[in-house]
Amino acid sequence: MIFDTHAHYDDEAFDADREELLAAMNENGICNIVNVGASMDSTKASVELSKKYDFMYTSVGVHPNETGELTENDMDILRKLSEDKKVVAIGEIGLDYHFLEPDKDIQKKWFRKQLDVAAETGLPVIIHSRDAANDTMSILKEYQGKLSGGVIHCYSYSLEMAKEYIKMGYYIGIGGVVTFKNAKKLIEVAENISLDKIVLETDCPYLSPEPNRGKRNDSTNLHYVVKKISELKGISEEEIIKQTYKNAIDLYKLN
Ligand code: NI
Repeated sequence: MIFDTHAHYDDEAFDADREELLAAMNENGICNIVNVGASMDSTKASVELSKKYDFMYTSVGVHPNETGELTENDMDILRKLSEDKKVVAIGEIGLDYHFLEPDKDIQKKWFRKQLDVAAETGLPVIIHSRDAANDTMSILKEYQGKLSGGVIHCYSYSLEMAKEYIKMGYYIGIGGVVTFKNAKKLIEVAENISLDKIVLETDCPYLSPEPNRGKRNDSTNLHYVVKKISELKGISEEEIIKQTYKNAIDLYKLN
């Protein structure tokens, strides 16, 4: 069964049918979901949601574009929340220079502060990085040896950089984008990195794979992502599902 390592079911896009959708995950071949925090509010909502479903875990953290109003007290709240047994990671944290809101220095400051929380708590990290390849790499280099691994979520950079992250102990998160016709770079990455370094993710409600591109995404669409990776790598869908499940268990230390 498929492990969705990155979803946002607390999003209002699921308000109308969240319960039915989540209740049907198992029969649709989805065994586990990590619901990812992206702001202080969504982090709190995510922790609550994870308590309702045995198969759901959560992360706590603030997306770079949401860091403008953060305070030290928020870091203490993250530390406190991370003691809950359903919390398996710190994230999503990182840098997003696509939208320069807030500015780079503020984003970097709170990226490092949240990496400090990860180092203290021993939880792996979920990294969001968009149009910020070099700064993300150099900050994560500062933390080499201090963190308990993590995932570069919705990976969008070069094959060379993916190999560097793998050397540093990170997993590469691949989702719906790999099915897009214009996804040349990500296809090259998926083809060339080892299957034992890939985890599957939706980032739902965003980034639906073909043939559902543009519609609301949910974890059941991961079957299309599995099919695509299977074709790219010449490995059976069954094997893709089995290995990426093992990888997710290892990433989030669920053994
Ligand atoms: Ni996300």
